[in-house]
Amino acid sequence: MNKPILSAENSKHLVDMDRSHVWHHLVQHKPIQEGAPMVIVEGQGLRVRDINGREYLDAVSGGVWTVNVGYGRESIADAVRDQLAQMCYFSNSAGNIPGARFSERLIEKMPGLSRVYFSNSGSEANEKGFKLVRQLAALENDGKKHKIIYRDRDYHGTTITALSACGQIQRKDQYGPFTPGFVEFPDCLAYHHERGDDPDFGVLAARELERVILEEGPDTVGSVILEPITAGGGVIPPPPGYFETVQEICAKYGVLIHIDEVVCGMGRTGKWFGYQHYGVKPDIVTMAKGVASGYAAIACTVTTEELFGKFLAEPSDTMQYFRDISTFGGCAGGPAAALENMRIIEEERLLDNVVAMGDYLMDRLEELKDRHPIVGDVRGKGLFVGAELVVDRKTRTPVDESVMIRIVGDCLEQGVMIGRTNRSFPKFNNTICLSPALICTRDDIDEIVASIDNALGRVKL
Ligand SMILES: Cc1ncc(COP(=O)(O)O)c(C=O)c1O
Repeated sequence: MNKPILSAENSKHLVDMDRSHVWHHLVQHKPIQEGAPMVIVEGQGLRVRDINGREYLDAVSGGVWTVNVGYGRESIADAVRDQLAQMCYFSNSAGNIPGARFSERLIEKMPGLSRVYFSNSGSEANEKGFKLVRQLAALENDGKKHKIIYRDRDYHGTTITALSACGQIQRKDQYGPFTPGFVEFPDCLAYHHERGDDPDFGVLAARELERVILEEGPDTVGSVILEPITAGGGVIPPPPGYFETVQEICAKYGVLIHIDEVVCGMGRTGKWFGYQHYGVKPDIVTMAKGVASGYAAIACTVTTEELFGKFLAEPSDTMQYFRDISTFGGCAGGPAAALENMRIIEEERLLDNVVAMGDYLMDRLEELKDRHPIVGDVRGKGLFVGAELVVDRKTRTPVDESVMIRIVGDCLEQGVMIGRTNRSFPKFNNTICLSPALICTRDDIDEIVASIDNALGRVKL
């Protein structure tokens, strides 16, 4: 399907409009101003086409791990259309039908949790979690237990407070000063840790959390926020024993566990939620991207009934409840899309596909590792996989980001969109990230891996 979608004239006009007026996310604009922005106009399954009619296999689900059930799902579009025609919006101070239905279906998948708070982005969902912790501290001990611990290499969003909880130094740089009361503890990536080969490394890495809680004073620490598997920080699954130890530490010091499922949620790792692989019992879970696979904007902050109960003050007390709102948390199209998205994942048994195809993808990447010394480490879970590239396997020195840019560019030339860690750290922007839609097949994976194989064969360090 490499044929143009618009006439040459229309397409030039559109590209000119974009180049003149759109300020794109994440990318440097100079090359766009001098060249041409990519404009994506249609998608089906795992494939998208740009304005020139060029087709690409999208191995990153919309660039940032979002389109979990793939492009072109008429049934989600219909669900959203029908809902918008019936009732598009009312503030979530009132209920709506898809919101109630989706909450019930979601909670069925999350034993131990019971309340869903709607908003419209991952950053915002995390901010709600932070606000709950801050207000709880105010309600219970004069604000003392207000600190929030986050982990090096994790990312939780783009707002100033979400960046205050960000373990990726380049993402934060130049955007301070930040919100006070956020404290970092070290990451759990065995590959770059001097004790990474220790069978107890997971426990050792988690004990760093305890060290920081003790340094700060347990009576000042309200919660810890963690990605179940660090995503943009380099695809880092937790080592064995890690979350069990985190759980034990948090129980000991009365610290709430906030799990950020914005990337891992809704099936990406082969279970509904990433944390469910590790037996941890969160107090707060946040999710966004895959919740409606990008067909509508929706995010959720999910809590336990116990936490919710702490905000059930007497109505005569006008301040002691969660006085928060998200205007677009009342858009009914979001939960309508999310309900249909969930139905598709269940009826098409996509979690099983993620497990099977995830194993296959991992095996194929291990083969690449055998052939290309530049591949230092392959890691991931389900259809969420990373390959870390190094100059030298012994020293594990990361390749320069410019090498990554060339590899991603080469794959794009071959018609395959892959991802990479990107302007996150001065040193560790060296991981290829793959997260194809949950419907992907062995043929899709073969095509993705072949393009990387070719690119690695050609790249000069
Ligand atoms: C783990 C994680 N949390 C939160 C966010 C922020 O989500 P959003 O961009 O929807 O605000 C992201 C975005 O990439 C993410 O990867």
